[in-house]
Amino acid sequence: MSHKILKGKKGIIFGALDNHSIAWKTAESVVNAGGTFVLSNAPVAIRMGTINSLAKKTGSKVIAADATKIDDLNILIDQAQEILGGKLDFVLHSIGMSVNVRKGKHYTELNHDWMTKGWDVSAVSFHKLMQSLYKKDAMNQWGSIVALSYIAAQRTFPNYNDMADNKAYLESIARSFGYFFGKEKKVRVNTISQSPTLTTAGKGVEGLDGFLKYAEKMSPLGNASAEECAEYTISLFSDYTRKVTLQNLFHDGGFSNVGVSQEIIDSIS
Ligand SMILES: NC(=O)c1ccc[n+]([C@@H]2O[C@H](COP(=O)([O-])OP(=O)(O)OC[C@H]3O[C@@H](n4cnc5c(N)ncnc54)[C@H](O)[C@@H]3O)[C@@H](O)[C@H]2O)c1
Repeated sequence: MSHKILKGKKGIIFGALDNHSIAWKTAESVVNAGGTFVLSNAPVAIRMGTINSLAKKTGSKVIAADATKIDDLNILIDQAQEILGGKLDFVLHSIGMSVNVRKGKHYTELNHDWMTKGWDVSAVSFHKLMQSLYKKDAMNQWGSIVALSYIAAQRTFPNYNDMADNKAYLESIARSFGYFFGKEKKVRVNTISQSPTLTTAGKGVEGLDGFLKYAEKMSPLGNASAEECAEYTISLFSDYTRKVTLQNLFHDGGFSNVGVSQEIIDSIS
């Protein structure tokens, strides 16, 4: 797809770690759609990942920012506007991390310091980001802010652990901040609830392979890939979706509205 639906639009893309990342695919789709951006990630992720090759390929600059640090976000937003030559039209928050998931802590045994850290990175960072954008009046009218979520925010997926709670909080922040961003600045705020996807964050979830196969069998259209998520995201950055806001939008091949599929029945009967 190469419609230039983002021609002239400028933004910030958080969370491209490597070429499996949803943010990486989104950066490629934004370029194809005619948009320009600054890439950002945590300093350690820039050192460990391959974001600089994406920057080269897309002709964009990389600015390090820990999304839990408001000072980092303030500097990033100022510098991004300088580099891009004005206010922003789109921002992608594609950030998630749970120390408990990483260390294999069972939900009933959660370490609460780690829980607080994961909550800060995966959910509160979205509030911090929007607060900085809002106070700096850094978004153009009819701009669009998107964060990525997962259906464990609504339904129980035991292995998703405390990330389920983080996603519920993230989606609530999108609605709460989205109200004020809409009212005061005419800016949209939405979350996309994406199918399970093979990325570094995804692979951290125990039994992801099972999740993927189950979701594939349950979804009438099959799982949505990272590339498809990127295409959906650019539609939300475009002028074609100017009145869509405060929504959690399922991008999951229909998974979220299926009770059971024939394939699942066949596989257990
Ligand atoms: N992979 C899946 O199955 C799936 C499904 C639904 C939603 N999501 C969500 O999509 C988003 C992107 O994840 P992904 O699957 O592309 O994996 P990914 O591992 O490629 O991306 C996660 C990103 O978060 C960044 N990050 C972590 N801590 C940070 C911090 N303090 N400051 C700034 N950045 C930080 C990482 O460096 C990484 O780039 C996440 O919010 C994830 O929860 C993923």
